[in-house]
Amino acid sequence: MREAVPRPSQLVLPMFAVAGEGIRQPVDALPGVARLSPDLLVEEARIAHAAGIGGVLLFGVPDDKDALASSADAADGVVQQAVSALRNALPDLVVITDTCLCAYTDHGHCGLLDEDGEVANDPSLEVLARTAVSHADAGADVVAPSDMMDGRVAAIRTALDDAGHEGVAIMAYSAKYASAFYGPFREAAGSAPGHGDRRGYQMDPPNAREAVREILEDEAQGADIVMVKPAATYLDVIAAARAATGLPLAAYHVSGEYAMLKAAAERGWLDERQATLETLTAIVRAGADIVITYAAVDAARWIREDER
Ligand code: PBG
Repeated sequence: MREAVPRPSQLVLPMFAVAGEGIRQPVDALPGVARLSPDLLVEEARIAHAAGIGGVLLFGVPDDKDALASSADAADGVVQQAVSALRNALPDLVVITDTCLCAYTDHGHCGLLDEDGEVANDPSLEVLARTAVSHADAGADVVAPSDMMDGRVAAIRTALDDAGHEGVAIMAYSAKYASAFYGPFREAAGSAPGHGDRRGYQMDPPNAREAVREILEDEAQGADIVMVKPAATYLDVIAAARAATGLPLAAYHVSGEYAMLKAAAERGWLDERQATLETLTAIVRAGADIVITYAAVDAARWIREDER
């Protein structure tokens, strides 16, 4: 009679790709998470796949950054190489790519800047669309724009279709809040903004009705999956999103939410397994179909054990 038990196939594991071979760089603020070169990334993804998770979400950590995010859409870029390696080694694994510019710009913002140092929405769309197409060319099943520029879903949909990628889906980070809980991620991705913050394009935490407007807008532009992010601190927004759209709904249990559980568990202050599963259960109970979490592999194993 349990109503909302997360299934392993609902879980998506975020992974960080770097160039090279044999490289594993653990991320201090995210115990259990490392930046990996494609060869090791394939090995970790193989383990995750075997644990029954639904897919992986890839982030690139490039060596080269510049003002125009030139390396974001390179055919031999870090994400593109990781995607092809995964595609070849694990043809059944669902591969999702984060489509954002913040790790590729030297200023660390999610779009290009104008002369005044403000994010320039429309010029950024072109770069994002080219980047999404390069991910699809490499073999991505789903592209996930996380930049929060206006109009990006439509721009990416058109570019994908024009490039013959009608079958590639868009998972839109529709309601992405300007959150303090992204801190550990920015260490992992090296993507902290050099000046200012992201409040010009990410959402203000007090606003829930605005989230529904953003979701409906992305749906109208052709999103296949919409997302609320963060997750555990935005359960009401997930529930509102669930009621507002019939699309599959993803929720991102973000780096800071994961790091809090890990830190407390390390000190013996929380039972990691129970606290993690309770958190993921709450996110599914609120209405999420897909949960993106750094705990995906452990959680998938725990869920399977509980079912036995
Ligand atoms: C890039 C991006 C961020 C996250 C996912 N994509 C960081 C940000 O917007 O600053 C955060 C993920 C996490 O904290 O786990 N725009």
